Amino acid sequence: PVLVVDFGAQYAQLIARRVREAGVYSEIVPHSITAAEVAEKNPVGIVLSGGPSSVYEEGAPALDNGIFDLEVPTLGICYGFQVMARALGGEVANTGLREYGSTDASLSVEGGVLLDGQPADQTVWMSHGDSVAKAPEGFTVLASTASTPVAAFGNEERKFYGVQWHPEVKHSAYGQNVLENFLHRAAGIPSDWNPGNVIAEQVERIRAQIGSGKVICGLSGGVDSAVAAALVHKAVGDQLVCVFVDHGLLRQDERRQVEEDYVAATGVRLITVDAREQFLNALAGVSDPETKRKIIGREFIRTFEKAQADLIAESLEDDGDPIAFLVQGTLYPDVVESGGGTGTANIKSHHNVGGLPDDLTFELVEPLRTLFKDEVRAIGRELGLPEVIVGRQPFPGPGLGIRIVGEVTAERLDLLRKADAIARFELTAAGLDNEIWQCPVVLLADVRSVGVQGDGRTYGHPIVLRPVSSEDAMTADWTRLPYDVLAKISNRITNEVDGVNRVVLDVTSKPPGTIEWE
Ligand code: XMP
Repeated sequence: PVLVVDFGAQYAQLIARRVREAGVYSEIVPHSITAAEVAEKNPVGIVLSGGPSSVYEEGAPALDNGIFDLEVPTLGICYGFQVMARALGGEVANTGLREYGSTDASLSVEGGVLLDGQPADQTVWMSHGDSVAKAPEGFTVLASTASTPVAAFGNEERKFYGVQWHPEVKHSAYGQNVLENFLHRAAGIPSDWNPGNVIAEQVERIRAQIGSGKVICGLSGGVDSAVAAALVHKAVGDQLVCVFVDHGLLRQDERRQVEEDYVAATGVRLITVDAREQFLNALAGVSDPETKRKIIGREFIRTFEKAQADLIAESLEDDGDPIAFLVQGTLYPDVVESGGGTGTANIKSHHNVGGLPDDLTFELVEPLRTLFKDEVRAIGRELGLPEVIVGRQPFPGPGLGIRIVGEVTAERLDLLRKADAIARFELTAAGLDNEIWQCPVVLLADVRSVGVQGDGRTYGHPIVLRPVSSEDAMTADWTRLPYDVLAKISNRITNEVDGVNRVVLDVTSKPPGTIEWE
């Protein structure tokens, strides 16, 4: 693999994704990794990421300099560039000059392999206080900006390079070229990795892990669990049983898509638990958002555990073999963000499965734990999963329950489901799915306003459209949808959904608003 050394910011994940987009498998490792540990991984290249620190700070993240002695082609970025400069005998200075955001860079004519084929003047994205004042011996300065004389350097012989700017960020116009030049031309790594390669490898691994054991998977209707289950099914067939809880807070057609389309595409054994009444009863009379969330979470766990217990009892009756494995759709960002262990975790049954013997443990099967979301989608497509599932936008676990501001009732759910289906249909029809991250449709059940429909006065509820654009849902902006699409959605909802006489658009970014209303 290419190792991406993490110096403690969000950058490492983005770099790892960009490297994979270049067709090269990448792994994120902590900066505390030793040279011996690096050598063991046998990397074909190393990228040192940016980070929030100054190399001068007390306790600034350091690197085992022995890593440079391994003579693996290395690219340092931002903080990683400065760490590299210092380790190899160059100088880093705090000049008092800072550069944040987009800057114009001039590339030297003898730009070398790293910047080959790029325009001499280009826009790059930077964020730094310290600067490399002097390149190490044997290195050529490859680029400069107004306040940073050494903005990039390289040593062609050792295949060591560094850039002060962030090539992984889209604002750097030729960023991906920098990465690809480093990977393919300088380090000579072919572009031959794609998410599809993962399938065969994972199938082997899952078989080795599960053997003849039995495995269970909770399907949420979302992309991750659907792809994880499909992979496990490909590996061990009917040793897998999937459980889908219908809590009545799903969107139109979601249950059918799972029960029919997904099953047809994969052939998995699926058990649907119809818990609609249970959830409605538990939510009766509740309007407070946090209380709703807690109730939905609790009921969900209860239902899933009950289904697990039933299945286990059944399999013990059949042939005495308990279900020993649990599939989870854990993704790489979850792994990295929670400290990045490797291998499978054993979870104690009583944390997860009520009413089972205390000594029973599930071993987790997590076939997606090295993958990013877009890669999971690509694998899902390769496995032939229906586009309605693979292309699905994020949808919160508590579902429509937290998109009704006010008490959740069966009638209100029906009404919201219709409005949501119309909005989704029109957005897809207008080809806007790739422009929006998601578009919650919210029913203000506690608000009414006066309208006129047909010949009469109405006193109905507003529906809120909340289209947002985002990279990761941590921050978001409201999407500027074309007026005619908004008009069409509004017309259709007020005409087709009884009880709604007004459609409004939420024009709040996040922060200060969250994406969901509750
Ligand atoms: P907020 O509303 O916090 O949402 O801006 C950020 C993203 O998370 C989704 N979301 C959830 N997803 N369970 C989930 O699985 C939840 O309880 C939940 N609440 C919010 C939301 O749709 C958005 O993508």
